[in-house]
Amino acid sequence: MTKPLEGIKIIDFTHVQAGPAATQMLAWFGADVIKVERPGSGDVTRSQLRHIKDADALYFTMLNSNKKSLTLDTKTQKGKKVLERLIRESDVLVENFAPGALDRMGFTWEHIHELNPGMIVASVKGFSDGHHFEDLKVYENVAQAAGGAASTTGFWDGPPTVSGAALGDSNTGMHLVIGILTALHARDKNGGKGQKVSVSMQDAVINLVRVKLRDQQRLDATGILEEYPQYPHGQFTDVVPRGGNAGGGGQPGWVLKCKGWETDPNAYIYFTIQGHAWPKVAEAIGKPEWIDDPAYNTALARQDKIFDIFSYIEEWLSDKTKFEAVDILRKFDIPCAPVLSMKEIANDPSLRKSGTIVEVNHPVIGKYLTVGSPIKFSDLDIDITASPLLGQHTNDVLKDLGYSQEEISELHDEKAV
Ligand code: COA
Repeated sequence: MTKPLEGIKIIDFTHVQAGPAATQMLAWFGADVIKVERPGSGDVTRSQLRHIKDADALYFTMLNSNKKSLTLDTKTQKGKKVLERLIRESDVLVENFAPGALDRMGFTWEHIHELNPGMIVASVKGFSDGHHFEDLKVYENVAQAAGGAASTTGFWDGPPTVSGAALGDSNTGMHLVIGILTALHARDKNGGKGQKVSVSMQDAVINLVRVKLRDQQRLDATGILEEYPQYPHGQFTDVVPRGGNAGGGGQPGWVLKCKGWETDPNAYIYFTIQGHAWPKVAEAIGKPEWIDDPAYNTALARQDKIFDIFSYIEEWLSDKTKFEAVDILRKFDIPCAPVLSMKEIANDPSLRKSGTIVEVNHPVIGKYLTVGSPIKFSDLDIDITASPLLGQHTNDVLKDLGYSQEEISELHDEKAV
């Protein structure tokens, strides 16, 4: 089967997580992704958090599957010539270096555009061009702080909190994928003209905290946010408070203890009380008298006793495991889920079957698990192959670029590759 992105050649000048997550996804969909890495060391994640001595770390293997690896010192004259040839033959260059690094290397947008007018140059930076923080280097949690996620996550009596989900890194990479595919589409419509595409990590996080900006404006207008735990007993200031585990969209919810919570840190479910589902909630938890009781039968009436209601539900849950509880609640159409640990996710048969959790065989580290494509297609099977060893495809890529065996040996001797 022809893969949708077959024939698209991508220079993957990315490192760490945000950039590699984007190019990995494009590789899954069939693009020829050539990861350009510094000779000798490569992407820093190859050696970060290793669990097997001298082998590529999972941090690297889980973000660089289905790619080729070309080692190239792009600060040497010979290395620059190789990169120039590669640029002439490629469709997209993706990079997430610190601001200005590509320019300092001599590969400005103007130079790249001159070498290949059809080239799309896609970048991830911490902050957008012209932003007053544009010169800052940025990692995941820095982006969560600057993007409004940290200030709105956690509990009101604790500090701003970051999420374990890579809202700054992989999320930005996914935004970049959308940008790259859009630019490829635009190129087809624009007589082959390439363009620059950039996503800042701050912006990508802000895109996910849209509902909190909604709440800021409601708070400015009314001084309260009636679905937050602070209402009606607590105090609001003039900024959106941290809401703990409250639901964000007007469906009150909370993380509730289930049987075994005393010893199992994940023996919890997320329970929602949607307005229209109240009769079913009341029925499911054995409180049918709450269905028509005016003290309970509207969201507003329940709000001042929402934590008493959750406490009652926790009592109901105390003799049920999280899985038993969900099995009961699903019969009542109540949106809920067990809080799953990473161990449970790793072993979940449905996730294995759908290809979301995939076992990959690596020539050095053996079998490992990775996260496969969250996007499923009816006409595309996505095979996840092992990440490349450092420089595994250097000679093949150089041959494809027209270098002779003698020239390739010279490049090796001069440590340009
Ligand atoms: N050959 C020669 N030099 C290379 C090279 C290669 N193949 N690949 C990289 N380099 C050089 C760069 O040109 C740069 O040199 P310079 O500083 O002299 O200009 C140098 O390596 C280091 O690159 P840099 O990006 O500054 O790495 P860093 O480890 O200092 O910073 C980040 C890492 C992630 C903080 C930074 O790259 C960054 O802020 N990126 C943008 C936001 C981002 O993507 N964050 C990470 C999300 S996971």
